Amino acid sequence: MARTRTMRDALLVLVGALCMHIATSFLGAFQPDLFASDSGVGSFPDHHDAHDLNVQKSFNAAKNPPKQTTPVIHTSQTNLAFDLPETIVESHAPGWTVFKNLYMANGTLFVVSSHPYSDFPDIKFMTSTGLPAENTPENIAARMPTSKDLDFITPEQARARWGPVATETQPQIAPNRVYSVQGNTFLINDPSQFLDHYYHFCAELLLGTWAFWQGTHNIKVNSKHADLMTAPPVTRAIFPHADANGWRDRPSFNSYFLRAAFPSLTVEVAEDWHDRVLSTSADGAHARAWHFDKVLLADRSAAFRGDICGTQVHRTAGEAFHHMRNAGRLSKWWWEPVRRAVLRFANIDESVLDIGVRAAAQADKQTNGVAALPAYGEKVVVTYINRQGVRRHLIDEDHARLVDDIAKLCEKNGWEWNDVKAERLTKEQQLELVARTTVLLGVHGNGLTHLIMMSPTPISTVIELFYPNGFAHDYEWTARALGHKHFAVWNDTYHTYPNLPWVNYPEGFQGTRIPVHAPTVTQIIEDRIAGRLP
Ligand SMILES: *[C@@H]1O[C@H](CO)[C@@H](O)[C@H](O)[C@H]1NC(C)=O
Ligand SMILES: *[C@@H]1O[C@H](CO)[C@@H](O)[C@H](O)[C@H]1NC(C)=O
Repeated sequence: MARTRTMRDALLVLVGALCMHIATSFLGAFQPDLFASDSGVGSFPDHHDAHDLNVQKSFNAAKNPPKQTTPVIHTSQTNLAFDLPETIVESHAPGWTVFKNLYMANGTLFVVSSHPYSDFPDIKFMTSTGLPAENTPENIAARMPTSKDLDFITPEQARARWGPVATETQPQIAPNRVYSVQGNTFLINDPSQFLDHYYHFCAELLLGTWAFWQGTHNIKVNSKHADLMTAPPVTRAIFPHADANGWRDRPSFNSYFLRAAFPSLTVEVAEDWHDRVLSTSADGAHARAWHFDKVLLADRSAAFRGDICGTQVHRTAGEAFHHMRNAGRLSKWWWEPVRRAVLRFANIDESVLDIGVRAAAQADKQTNGVAALPAYGEKVVVTYINRQGVRRHLIDEDHARLVDDIAKLCEKNGWEWNDVKAERLTKEQQLELVARTTVLLGVHGNGLTHLIMMSPTPISTVIELFYPNGFAHDYEWTARALGHKHFAVWNDTYHTYPNLPWVNYPEGFQGTRIPVHAPTVTQIIEDRIAGRLP
């Protein structure tokens, strides 16, 4: 009896020592590089230094390969087998939360923490049930999250659920049943109601995600390095409430932008999430969980519970952008890495990509706020998104006069004039044109979403034609967040930030008889290019 015990004890010590050894050699060999770019806090690492550093690292690695004294064991399983790291919220604004070490089992997200109730935001500001939104009291209540959506447990509770089951004869030397989903995950908890729409996906979700992700890592893009994807790479995007077509828009800009900006990102949709849910749905000794290294959780309903999105700009991206901008974590060039990646993918000339950077350099040189060179030395391009064939559009006579007057104005000044029916151009033609455009003009609608690909300059301008007294923040806020001046035109008057009207959808807003007084528009264009409307 005594002898068996001694032998078993000796065996346990041996197993324990082996585990320690594997864990430490894993930490030594792999850990430091995983989030290397996180450490560039406060400043942008010099391109050449970063490059040289990587070359040096891989050179060293080739010269001194890590010693393989033990069989290769899957990296983070080794880690998680004996340790369940606690969840940390790295940054948070309503609807936007970046977690380190988030767990999921049976469809519930778990925060594992020794201080579960004091250290975390209210779950209604982090998530929702993910149901489509309607503006009824019943639906608002139905979107409120419960502990089924996101729950808090202590490390002891986590071990009790997913750790080894101890018995008299079987001490706890078995590994935890927790499996790592490595890398960086964008978890988008929204229904396809908004995801399958170019504006909401690219100009709202992607924009907000990028602002929040970049701000979380405090990476300040400057104009010299604007073409680098500087934030930590994103491994995957998960859409638990959308099927394969649920995040795709009809002209397929969503997939184009996502693939262009993040070529190595993989997408999981509802079916894939369901696999992950089902495989962790067992109870008792077979209970399992997924561990996500790092997650940006985005939730539209949660963003609308915030003040900026809910009562001010009605843009979910507004919560992400203003949170990071106010914290001093977004530079003027914050969107450039995505914009450039998409335009490069579209094979657009490098000199076009640099319009904003060149104009900024010119603006720095000028004195007394007056441009030394008209239009900062760039060709002025006026582009009109013509929607006369589409449901919401201008009165035909007003449209004819508008097109005529702007064409004349452009001819007089040697500016380029484009009267465009976007659906007749290829994606590349549309993107090439909008990347060169100084003044983008059109009736309120999805066609204006292209403004996210314009070059920001001191005179870049978006003119949105509304039915008089009608207003929505979609393109106004977006233009402003990206450094373009926006004018909301009501026939013969206009509004611009900070003097904005209330959001309003009057009778006629969606109609085919939107009036516009052409001289009002041509005056805005002339004044803006001349620097009279800064
Ligand atoms: C898993 O989730 C389903 C659906 O919410 C629920 O009915 C079931 O009881 C859950 N199982 C466990 C083990 O929690
Ligand atoms: C638009 O403005 C013009 C010029 O002020 C005016 O003559 C016209 O009646 C206005 N149209 C509408 C529908 O208000």
